[in-house]
Amino acid sequence: MTRYGQSPQMQRLEKFVARVREQGLYPDIPVVESAATEPVVRIEGKDLLLFCSNNLLGMSSHGEVKAAAAAAVEKYGLGSGGSRVMAANLDVHVRLEQRIAEFLGREDAICFAAGYMANVGTIPALMRIDFLASLNLNDMALNFTGKRRKVESQVDWDLFSEEANHASDVDGVRLSRAEPHIYGHKDMVGLGAALAASRHHSKIVISDGVFSMDGDIAPIPEIVALAKSHQAMVMVDDAHGIGVLGAKGRGSLEHLGVASDDVDILMGTFTKAFGGIGGFVAGSTALIDYLRISARTYIFSAPIPPAIAAGLITSIDIVDREPWRHEKALENAAYFRRKVEAAGFDTLGSETHIVPVLIGREDAAVRMAEGLRGHGIIAPKVHYPAVPVGRSRIRFVMTCQHNQAQIDYLLRSLRGLKTELNL
Ligand SMILES: Cc1ncc(COP(=O)(O)O)c(C=O)c1O
Repeated sequence: MTRYGQSPQMQRLEKFVARVREQGLYPDIPVVESAATEPVVRIEGKDLLLFCSNNLLGMSSHGEVKAAAAAAVEKYGLGSGGSRVMAANLDVHVRLEQRIAEFLGREDAICFAAGYMANVGTIPALMRIDFLASLNLNDMALNFTGKRRKVESQVDWDLFSEEANHASDVDGVRLSRAEPHIYGHKDMVGLGAALAASRHHSKIVISDGVFSMDGDIAPIPEIVALAKSHQAMVMVDDAHGIGVLGAKGRGSLEHLGVASDDVDILMGTFTKAFGGIGGFVAGSTALIDYLRISARTYIFSAPIPPAIAAGLITSIDIVDREPWRHEKALENAAYFRRKVEAAGFDTLGSETHIVPVLIGREDAAVRMAEGLRGHGIIAPKVHYPAVPVGRSRIRFVMTCQHNQAQIDYLLRSLRGLKTELNL
């Protein structure tokens, strides 16, 4: 018998990790000794400037939000006590779903423990509609034969997924068993041609609203028009847009003037603009009712902890009544983008609070991230597989809590390092 760690598989794994370390690509993630959601964080006893928090609107540390969460801990305790379909269908979950649906102008919403769970639950659930509809639920247990399982694995859908979609959309697609057509980044000609060639009776186009590694916005009006002409459904993952884009912060759809009815499935996360954790899907009553009985990550996993759900309801109220928060985050981003581009950096078409700065080679991005750290600045290098090889970048996120002096310091550091590293 091989001892733990000595099997050939473990040796391969060890060798791989050692190689990643040698190449300097093993993520050197600092341990933060304070809240990691503020512009200034404490690491190894020192104050450093953070430009990668998704606490875009300062909600994680807002006094009213913390008070609502603290009161809910007293009332409900720490955990939920199980899945929503078992014991843990709490009033606070129902109120959160109603509040986010109302904020987005949708009939209903369903919440998941994370945005990731929302995507990996929702996409496969949609692809199972034909199978589920073919069942006679009353005698399903008797008839669940091998033949039935084979039918279950046949998915008569064509799924069109944008190449820069987030990993959770990609994994949702993988779990769906549908054969995906991956269309190029914002390539509407390619999408149109693929839709025209589709022979399946059900079609869906899935796109992020804001692309998480480039900070640019999907051409949703064009996607909607193409989808309409080919009778395809549209799903938009607006994890980064909701709360930030549009005059009222309703997201990419509002920003682009797309009617909410034109997008069948609107997905978002509570992790970013709302400062908590959890994901959601908003849409018609029929869609949400369907997901409650078919999305496996909703049925077989515990929901958002009740204290977080209570804090999130307050957070949505504040985001709704204080638009200055998203305006300021976008102003900070526009200022940084303008100045960093003038210094000769490429921001890859960023239009939002996510501002990547292209470095190119993986080793150069490693040196840039280390150099910034030397200046007391934390921002992550992003490289393959998150982005294509040779397109490594430093990804900055501007929030409403950054001030101009902090952004100017970042700009001075970037200019200095560009010369020093000969970029
Ligand atoms: C576009 C997009 N979708 C989904 C997610 C997953 O959200 P969560 O962090 O809530 O799991 C992310 C997270 O970064 C994202 O960027």
